[in-house]
Amino acid sequence: MLTLTSNNPEETKTIGKALAKSVRTGSSIGLTGELGAGKTQFVKGLARGLGIGEDEVVSPSFGLINEYEGDKKLYHVDLYRLESNEEIETLGLADYIWGDGICVIEWADRLGKDLSLLDLHIHIEILPDNRRRFIFSGIDVKFLEKEVKTLLKERLWH
Ligand SMILES: Nc1ncnc2c1ncn2[C@@H]1O[C@H](COP(=O)(O)OP(=O)(O)OP(=O)(O)O)[C@@H](O)[C@H]1O
Ligand SMILES: [Mg+2]
Repeated sequence: MLTLTSNNPEETKTIGKALAKSVRTGSSIGLTGELGAGKTQFVKGLARGLGIGEDEVVSPSFGLINEYEGDKKLYHVDLYRLESNEEIETLGLADYIWGDGICVIEWADRLGKDLSLLDLHIHIEILPDNRRRFIFSGIDVKFLEKEVKTLLKERLWH
């Protein structure tokens, strides 16, 4: 497991941006954390790293999927309003998870045990004073540890 701390929204975006440079095309990233944890801020940073205007990035308003065209395709899913497991199939989520772009999923815990199928799971914990703790797990962590450490300021890492 790998953790790092963000001190403000801009640092959260920096983490997203750094990840954009290191995740493989076709990767799936699950984000969890309570309301206002910073999941969407993170996706904005990820988008920035892929050459997508971060203002384009808004959470899909009805448990749906937004698609952005950047250096790589970015699929942005928000499962907050997911009502049933059948809906996952209706959305055709598997096609995005195993598709050719990067698929990032807010409220990925709504996938239940399927969360472990994703390449990377990032849990964001709210700490005092606008800080956030990012906890990374999943099969891509070892890969990320190497790549991202070179991209992010050492002080973010523990
Ligand atoms: N270190 C930080 N990282 C990210 N956001 C922060 C931080 N400190 C404060 N914030 C604020 O917290 C809020 C995070 O909002 P954001 O929409 O990204 O959360 P979210 O996890 O996507 O919430 P939701 O579950 O509603 O989708 C923003 O208003 C942001 O300015
Ligand atoms: Mg959000």
